[in-house]
Amino acid sequence: MRLTVIGTGYLGAVHAACMADIGHDVLGVDTDTRKIEALAAGRAPFFEPGLPEILVRNTRAGRLRFTTSLQEAADFADLHFVCVGTPQRADGLAADLSHVEAVVDGLAPLLTRDSLIVGKSTVPVGTTRALARRVAAQVPPGIEAEVAWNPEFLREGFAVQDTLRPDRLVLGVSSPRADQVLRQVYAPMLQAGIACISTDPATAELVKTAANSFLATKISFINAMAEVCDASGADVVTLADALGHDARIGRRFLSAGLGFGGGCLPKDIRAFLARAEELKVGEAVSFLHQIDRINERQRRRTVDLAGQLVGGTLDGQRIAVLGATFKPDSDDVRDSPALAVTAALLDQGADVRVHDPEGLDNARAALPGPAYCDDVVETCQDADLVLHLTEWPHYRALDPRELAQVVRSPRLLDARNALDPTAWRAGGWHVRALGRPAHV
Ligand code: UGA
Repeated sequence: MRLTVIGTGYLGAVHAACMADIGHDVLGVDTDTRKIEALAAGRAPFFEPGLPEILVRNTRAGRLRFTTSLQEAADFADLHFVCVGTPQRADGLAADLSHVEAVVDGLAPLLTRDSLIVGKSTVPVGTTRALARRVAAQVPPGIEAEVAWNPEFLREGFAVQDTLRPDRLVLGVSSPRADQVLRQVYAPMLQAGIACISTDPATAELVKTAANSFLATKISFINAMAEVCDASGADVVTLADALGHDARIGRRFLSAGLGFGGGCLPKDIRAFLARAEELKVGEAVSFLHQIDRINERQRRRTVDLAGQLVGGTLDGQRIAVLGATFKPDSDDVRDSPALAVTAALLDQGADVRVHDPEGLDNARAALPGPAYCDDVVETCQDADLVLHLTEWPHYRALDPRELAQVVRSPRLLDARNALDPTAWRAGGWHVRALGRPAHV
């Protein structure tokens, strides 16, 4: 099938490459010339394991091309996926839909035949209906264009596998024809037995918002338990393990620590709160305010504990920070809890050095101030405290004994509960973690 993917950020670049990889003829579209040039040359403009390989394979095979021209997109296909960003608005909690609106405003007047426009971005419930009206008002006479919603559930770091082998496909359509077209697009996945739910666009939009809200709730729930553990001497890791054995609860997304960040969960729960207010059901989801607050509190708790560990004041203390990205296997620092903690340490007068395996360039651009190092030993040189803020596998492979030789004081705060406290203690370290008693 011929299709376009408009917007080539995380979502769009991966979707375009994966659609080409399952055999479609794909044209990726973006206004950012540099991004388009990189992608056309088979280079991923961001770190995502597995993406460079499929980009190269499919651009070479001629199944994947890129352009900055919406006219070319309109001429190329009658099926268009919209994958542009829906960030938080600068003036409040709501989602900024201006990029999505700009795409449909640009595309609709250029359509030369009946078309299907399929949104994949995370949007407030009701967006498809509003966009359908917008499109209908702008298509040339005699042309019909349906708007459908097909939310994406990919995680950064696992984007390729999540796109090719998702847990489920959700098709929010208004006609049997749109359902049929989308089922044809995803035919190889359907043949592989992947669950596919066809529903109306509003339900499809809400599935995505609800899924991210649920995941955020799960993380804040266990972080709230971590606070109770700290106050009572209980151990949140054992608690999560024991809870996770209950199949109704499950262990995934019950890792207590610094909390969630990134370009999705924080802004999605806020946008949901804003949309629910508009729908006059704000009270029903008001618990999400608390989820957000619990999440923000973990950052403060980490900074406070760091202060306690260095004897009360961070001023003048040399702190080594391991991890800058919002999670491992990504170079993304958007709303990164690690960078938020780093900023607070700097505010309190600490001398901070930051290491990250992939995110240093983005971190430097987002937060000038600390020293950024691409070597862990250099980062930890003469440190009064080592703070583990993003759980890259690299850090689990460190030799605590060796590292103890380079720091001033072998003190570790594991804010991700991902390092082995026994091994670090055996290596001569004083170890603390969020939600765990000092002796665990
Ligand atoms: C999230 C969802 O997991 C995806 O399903 C969704 O498609 C995506 O948002 C999106 O809306 O586009 P992502 O932001 O890539 O994906 O990252 P997650 O793996 O969900 O992690 C989010 C944050 O939660 C990270 O900061 C991570 O460190 C934190 N987290 C995760 C915890 O603190 N504890 C956990 O147990 C799990």
